[in-house]
Amino acid sequence: MKVGIIGSGGREHAICESLKKSSKINEIFCFPGNAGTAHIATNININLQDFEILKNFIIEKKINLVVVGPEKPLVEGLVDYLKKYEINVFGPNKIASQLEGSKIFTKQLCKKFNIPTAEFGIFQNKEEANKFIEKTNFPLVVKADNLASGKGVYICENLTEAYAAVEEIFKGKFGKAENLLIEEYLKGEEMSFFTIHDGKKFKDFSTAQDHKRVLEGDKGKNTGGMGAYSPSRLISDELKKKIIDRIIKPTLEGLSELGTEYQGFLYTGLMIVKNEPYLIEYNVRMGDPECQTILPKLKTDLFEILNACCNQKLNEINIEWSKKKSLCIVVCSKGYPETIQKNIELKNLDKIKFDKNNFMFHAGTKKENNKTYAISGRVLNFISLSDDFATARKNIISNISKLNWTGGFYRKDIGHKVIDK
Ligand code: AMP
Ligand code: GLY
Repeated sequence: MKVGIIGSGGREHAICESLKKSSKINEIFCFPGNAGTAHIATNININLQDFEILKNFIIEKKINLVVVGPEKPLVEGLVDYLKKYEINVFGPNKIASQLEGSKIFTKQLCKKFNIPTAEFGIFQNKEEANKFIEKTNFPLVVKADNLASGKGVYICENLTEAYAAVEEIFKGKFGKAENLLIEEYLKGEEMSFFTIHDGKKFKDFSTAQDHKRVLEGDKGKNTGGMGAYSPSRLISDELKKKIIDRIIKPTLEGLSELGTEYQGFLYTGLMIVKNEPYLIEYNVRMGDPECQTILPKLKTDLFEILNACCNQKLNEINIEWSKKKSLCIVVCSKGYPETIQKNIELKNLDKIKFDKNNFMFHAGTKKENNKTYAISGRVLNFISLSDDFATARKNIISNISKLNWTGGFYRKDIGHKVIDK
């Protein structure tokens, strides 16, 4: 079988590696992939905005299954487009992808179905938003409605920060803003809860804890994710039941009222407050870097799972997991999540010795003339599987020190809530 993976991050490299393990797969294409996927797949550099070129390539190469990694093509309707040409594709359709594409869509669904979430208001202009802010308690959260790679969220401690957030969003920092969201700040511990859906049935797909802030101690700006560990220390059967009954099932009911169903990975971003789950956001894909911690624990053939989902036969698959603890640290270019320097060479990659429990996925890298360059904010993901999180983190830090890359930085405290209690 041939598979195609859309995307170029650490998540897509992890998906590629998992699919490579399947005895059913003999060829992998990545659109466009990175320097890591280049070792195990054919990277195809085509413009992902141009669905027609992509579709023609998939048909010409007779690709049996296409997996869409990132949110942008999902929100733009790539799945609907490819399905029109009878291409087997794993991921949610355009309507269902609104769960991530519009925070306001999700908040309104929460309101209608009584899904626990932070109190919120929607504002169409700066004046209205500022008037509200002046009467509200701090901290509060200001959010752009549209996709912003995890960066369109401001946790504001005071009026000055809140005014600045409103100003930046309405000035178009995250694309044209017709409205923004102001939310109550939920104080608790975050958890990423994953499910996999075939349109009719769904199963859980493990949990993780991301670290969104750029600096150690969970300080500084929000990022796409600086590191993760799996499973989350918070998960229990009781909590899982609450999440499924109060959040996921009503959401699927809401989609069904809109005449659609959900197929793909669903990432439920939660704040757990005194063992009660509150929905912070949905993402219509695997998390990045959560995926890099979860897939290496998967014992079942990923191709069989995804293929079963495309045929609405997920109930015939038993998904099995390793009991190991998994941790990932993201190495970023200096300056991330703000301005970074691009095209800095990574010189010491071949000095690091990896093994089956200690390895690396590439994210923002490219290969040119046999050299590897960092080309975006999040560059490399180091992963370790171990019997405990502390050992996993120690192994990773030892590997990153061999990289000795002066152009980058990383958080040494990933997993602090579970390791350094
Ligand atoms: P989002 O893109 O909506 O997931 O927000 C990014 C991050 O901001 C989340 O992962 C949380 O760390 C934080 N955040 C978002 N909304 C809230 C909230 N209402 N209360 C507390 N923290 C929040
Ligand atoms: N790790 C956060 C995300 O994938 O959105």
